[in-house]
Amino acid sequence: MHKATVETAALREHILTYARTRMGYDNPPLDHPQTLEWLQQRAGQTVTEEGLGGMRALGIFADVLAPATISTDHPGYLSFIPTAPTEASTLFDLVVSASSIYGGSWLEGAGAVYAENQVLSWLASEVGLPETAGGVFVQGGTLGNLSALVAARHAARAERERKGTSQPARWKFICSSEAHSSLKSAAAVMDVEIIKAAADTDGRLSGVAVEQAIAAAGDGLFAVVATSGTTNFGIVDDLDSIGVVAKAHDLWFHIDGAYGLAGILAPSTRKLFKGSERADSFIVDPHKWLFAPFDACALVYRNPELARAAHTQHGEYLDTLTERDEWNPSDYAYNLTRRVRGLPLWFSLATHGTNAYAKAVDDNIRLAHEIADVIRAHPKMSLVREPMLSVVVFEYDGWQLADYEAWSSKLLDDQIAFVVPSSHAGRPNTRFAIVNPLTSKDLLIQILDSMDEFEASRTEKKGQQ
Ligand SMILES: Cc1ncc(COP(=O)(O)O)c(C=O)c1O
Repeated sequence: MHKATVETAALREHILTYARTRMGYDNPPLDHPQTLEWLQQRAGQTVTEEGLGGMRALGIFADVLAPATISTDHPGYLSFIPTAPTEASTLFDLVVSASSIYGGSWLEGAGAVYAENQVLSWLASEVGLPETAGGVFVQGGTLGNLSALVAARHAARAERERKGTSQPARWKFICSSEAHSSLKSAAAVMDVEIIKAAADTDGRLSGVAVEQAIAAAGDGLFAVVATSGTTNFGIVDDLDSIGVVAKAHDLWFHIDGAYGLAGILAPSTRKLFKGSERADSFIVDPHKWLFAPFDACALVYRNPELARAAHTQHGEYLDTLTERDEWNPSDYAYNLTRRVRGLPLWFSLATHGTNAYAKAVDDNIRLAHEIADVIRAHPKMSLVREPMLSVVVFEYDGWQLADYEAWSSKLLDDQIAFVVPSSHAGRPNTRFAIVNPLTSKDLLIQILDSMDEFEASRTEKKGQQ
């Protein structure tokens, strides 16, 4: 299995041809999911005692499995938070896969870790953290938030030990009522209490609300989490006032910027991120709005030593790594073995430069505002909230959830776009999350037109009843 043979050489060429063709699409096939029965009928049992052979397995993937998956880089993929890797980052992901690099330690991965760290330093400097800031690329924002909070609690515990203060019966952290579900999940994993501070009617958390939550929380608080770019609406919390309050109470200030922190790069929205320089830690996902492939979350700490104290794993076979005065990425998060998942972004940044990133993010934001203008002017559509970054949430007059569902299914069946229903305050709506530079205004207008067409047939059907 491991030797290069005539067969593996031929397979290599086929695989590279497949990858070359897939990467060459500006408009990849959108595709759609299939049922388990459909897949069983066409793909059958693929894991067998004797093996199918690489060519047959590749054929099954190309003809059956891949078309049964949605392409998240299609310009019409506008649901959840899509991903739209640059050509350079996707190409380099192949190189990472081919290179067998262990990304957990400097001893094994020095060159790759050096490059990843340059990207983390660039992000830290954009956010306004000192040069001594550092961290690690982890799998995703969920793991990034958890790792930062584990470091924060560890630091709080150590501080109480140092001062000789008693440990609380229960640790707690504060986040917004509009914060991402991964924070609730982190609280459950850590067995700590989560305290929701009320966001205002625009969905924005402020220092005043955090101050009130602190006053009501009692003993055991160790962190305040702000969101810079909520998932549903792309709202950036008032980082400045929250940071001031968190620091006044000696609390760790973490920013969950998984989706939206990339907006700090755009000249048009940079000011929204004032106060991010107060953060003790932040995350931003390159697989969301920094145009890198799955899966990568940049996790950065103001004082990486506090994270190292919390996360370093000790074991006899590891001592040779941990007892060196070197940068071992594994020591900064809940992970050990790791892929150098920051390298696709590094390669793309090294290729294009940071200005190209600022422009691409800015263009997405401009497009979001342009399509919001179209929606605002439409007699039957209304914005649920004004967009701040690149998420546009809107309703079609009189539509129930079933209408959004039926329209959304047709849009996917017609292979135009993937735009699923969402909801706010119990009312159904839909949303565009725009992070793909290949998404055009024409396509967005085509999608809006398809809502009008659906409405016309809906009204006609009602009239016939
Ligand atoms: C604000 C925010 N935080 C955290 C996450 C979790 O990130 P991941 O899906 O990479 O685990 C998301 C995902 O959408 C998010 O939008």
